[in-house]
Order: sequence, then C-alpha cells, then structure tokens
Amino acid sequence: MNYEHILIKKEDGVAIITINRHERRNALAAQTIEELDHAFTELENDTDLGAVVITGAGDKAFCAGADIEEGFKPQTPNPEPRTTSYDISYFVRRGQEVFQKIEKFPLPVIAAVNGYALGGGFELMMSCDIVIAAENAALGQPEVNRGIMPGWGGTQMLPRRVGKYRAMELLLLGGRIKARDAEAMGLVNKVVPKGEELFTAMEIAKRFARAPRDSVRLIKDAVIRGSAMSIDEGLKIELENFLKTFKK
Ligand code: COA
Repeated sequence: MNYEHILIKKEDGVAIITINRHERRNALAAQTIEELDHAFTELENDTDLGAVVITGAGDKAFCAGADIEEGFKPQTPNPEPRTTSYDISYFVRRGQEVFQKIEKFPLPVIAAVNGYALGGGFELMMSCDIVIAAENAALGQPEVNRGIMPGWGGTQMLPRRVGKYRAMELLLLGGRIKARDAEAMGLVNKVVPKGEELFTAMEIAKRFARAPRDSVRLIKDAVIRGSAMSIDEGLKIELENFLKTFKK
C-alpha cells in the first residue's frame, strides 16, 4: 500500500508510525484510519519487529482527533450503502475496530505524545500500552463541546484507565488536561521536556525489542485480554500463557 497519511520507519527492531498530517494537526480522516489498519496488519507479519511507536508529525499535535471536515462526510472506502448517517456509523465503527486492533496488537505499542491529543487522538493514545508525553501536551475528550460524544472508545477506555469520577469529569465537561496532570492520573507513564518524547519512547521500545519476544507477547496478551474479564477468567489466561513460556 502507498501510504499518504502516515509514515513508517524501522529502526533496531522498532517500527515508528508517524501520522503525517501536520497541517490538520494530524487529524484522522477515513483514509488515515484505513492506513493505520493496513500498517498494523503489515507489522503483525514482520518477524523482526519487537515494538511499535506512534507519534504525530510536527511539534504541535500528536493527533487532534477525527477529521471534522472529512470524517463526517461520505467516505470513499465505505463499501456499504451511502446514506450520510450510515457513513458516520461506518467511520465510527472502523475507528473502534482499528483502535482495538492497536490495543490487541501482539507487541507493545508506545505513544510518543508530542502535543495535543484530543478526541480520537486521546483515544488512540489510550489504545497504546505505554504513553510518553511532552510537557506541553494537552489531552482531552472535547466532543461534548461540539454536541457529539466520543466514538472511538473514550467512554469505555477512560473509566477503565482512571476510574468513574475522573472519567466523568473529563468526558462530560470536555476540558483539557496537561501532561503532568495526566501523569498524576495514571494516563501517562512519563512526562519529558518538549522534543524528547520520541527519543524516550524509542529507548523504551528498543528495550522491549531486545527482551524475550514470546514473554513480551504473552504478558501483553494476558494483561489486555484479562482486563476485559473477571479475575478468575484472567487467571486462567495467565496460567495458559505461563505454561507456554515455561515449556520453552
Ligand atoms: N479535523 C480537521 N481539521 C482540523 C482538526 C480536526 N480535528 N483539528 C485541527 N484541524 C485543522 C484546523 O481546521 C486548521 O485548518 P486551517 O489551517 O485550514 O484553518 C489546522 O488544522 C490548524 O488548526 P489550528 O486550530 O489553527 O491549530 P492550533 O495549533 O491553534 O490548535 C487544536 C490545535 C488541536 C487545539 C485545534 O485545532 C482544535 O481544537 N482542533 C479540534 C480538536 C477536536 O475538537 N477534536 C475532536 C473532534 S470530534
């Protein structure tokens, strides 16, 4: 596939995906979503790979969310009947599917948040396993201010990350939080000076890439699948995965 909205580079067993729409603050159009989907499918089959880093082009935004201008209009990749309401449903569903694919990607995915992560950009960040944010980053779910609501997992992921009360405040008031506040809430692993987020994310990604690949995959799998289950079911997955590493 010829990517137009994203860039992919590989370095020391790490793939760096850059959303390359700086002029739109790296907003996600239908094409961007499809390119991300394709990229993750391609990377899943890359046996040399140990981790993925996602970032945004430029120094202003990681991702400003769904492309407000293009995203809510009839879409080219939509194979289904072209009514406006159905197109929106398709766009939202595809975003949910692709973000789930990122969350369940067999290797660790690290977000290098280099500025605004709003709406779908915040949801993309929450689909990642590790978040490194520049100190100027600002995060939030502003959809309520537009009379709509989050559609790419925000209402489901945020309460699971930060608990009901903080999630309600962010979702219902639509405000932005700074990187340091996000770190205090447990939404960000580490805040670094502006311009150092990609380097820091790469350092961690390279450590993952050097770690025993099967252990990394099985640990991530147990955490991600287990987080949607009861502790008893989750422990069964842990046992199954443990035995797979132990047999080696
Ligand atoms: N969709 C489409 N275009 C977007 C966009 C989005 N989500 N976010 C920004 N852009 C475009 C702007 O329309 C502008 O286009 P223009 O140059 O043709 O006028 C360009 O990107 C630059 O945006 P601007 O607002 O001038 O940049 P900024 O650095 O001052 O502010 C943001 C950046 C991200 C704070 C601001 O653009 C913003 O609030 N965007 C919308 C975020 C949002 O509500 N996301 C959820 C969508 S449901």
